[in-house]
Amino acid sequence: MIESVAAVTPSNRALVDGEVYVPGLPVEDVTQKYGVAPDDVAKLASAENPHGASPLALKAVAEAQSRLSLYPDWTAKTLRAAIGEKYGFDPEGVVCGSGETEVISMLIRAFAKPDEPVLMHSPCFPLYRIYSHCEGRRPVFSPMGKDFDPQVDHYIDVMRRVNPKIAFMTNPHNPSGRLMSESEVRRICEAANSDTLLALDEAYVHYSSAQFGMDLLREYDNLIVLRTFSKAFGLAGLRVGFGISNNPDIIRPLRLIKPTWNMGQMQIAGGIAGLNDDAHVARAVATIQEMRPYVTSGVDKVDGFRAVPGSEANFFLTEILNPELDSTRVFNELLKRGVIVKDGSDIPELGSRYLRVDVNLKKHMDRFLWALADIKA
Ligand SMILES: Cc1ncc(COP(=O)(O)O)c(C=O)c1O
Repeated sequence: MIESVAAVTPSNRALVDGEVYVPGLPVEDVTQKYGVAPDDVAKLASAENPHGASPLALKAVAEAQSRLSLYPDWTAKTLRAAIGEKYGFDPEGVVCGSGETEVISMLIRAFAKPDEPVLMHSPCFPLYRIYSHCEGRRPVFSPMGKDFDPQVDHYIDVMRRVNPKIAFMTNPHNPSGRLMSESEVRRICEAANSDTLLALDEAYVHYSSAQFGMDLLREYDNLIVLRTFSKAFGLAGLRVGFGISNNPDIIRPLRLIKPTWNMGQMQIAGGIAGLNDDAHVARAVATIQEMRPYVTSGVDKVDGFRAVPGSEANFFLTEILNPELDSTRVFNELLKRGVIVKDGSDIPELGSRYLRVDVNLKKHMDRFLWALADIKA
């Protein structure tokens, strides 16, 4: 290695030694290390679609190859128009990102100044916190209660006390899958000051029983709804997400701050086609809704484990009741048996008593249940 003499330093400490996001492991890690055949691996740590990518999106992406020598429209105009039409909003109220996570990072940069507070539940999707730290903004936490009750009253108390510049709400919540009701989200919206940007993250909303975020947009001018194409549309590898608001003053700064051509020809074409692939979304939703009670009741029958009740997402938390086991040990034992889950220890506020497990095809659920029962303390 060359010894560096340069004195360049990142703008804040989190960029030197801050928390790094830990994604779910790829299938190859298990096939290579433990000799499990790729088709047998149960990949249950990234909340992907059990039926793969939307076929309509795949076709559109292939066709977009003929346009790869051309710059895309820098605002992804046609994709914004399709999103606006689908949900009944002006396309000027839509901003697209290379995944929803890009929109999250843009929001934090655009709407909170250095050291200003950004509110989120604890635990939460780690990237709210990681991006806040990396941008020098100040994450503030509202703890969840027993079995990850969102404790809306407490959230509102914290919000009143710190007056955050951005308040993230995740519905359904990651990592628990718990859902806040429409009246709970409304209470938060009513309690927020008008200078707090309310960011309602509906990444997993298709799998839940309450899809009201878009309706609230017409009532609250400081609200933005965030959505992803990575889950129900099955396009995690394409990288498409968006933010939508009824207030163009929220969207305009995001358009200016985003990397100019952040959406390529394939993302735009695949996004438009995937958005309208209702059959594919319905298939994923049906599988999740059928398998969720199947796998959670299966976990409850395994000695030493319990499914945290109430998930309305395509994953749920498994609590480790056996005091002789911890999440990293169970995670590693599952890997040996061809099952990839998320180790709760990788989500700092979750700790070592939980695993996050995706709901997926029956054969993967059966492998997970078999492997869990096979682990001895
Ligand atoms: C709550 C939540 N929001 C957003 C995302 C990211 O979505 P994308 O793949 O579009 O960046 C995830 C992904 O895991 C998530 O859990």
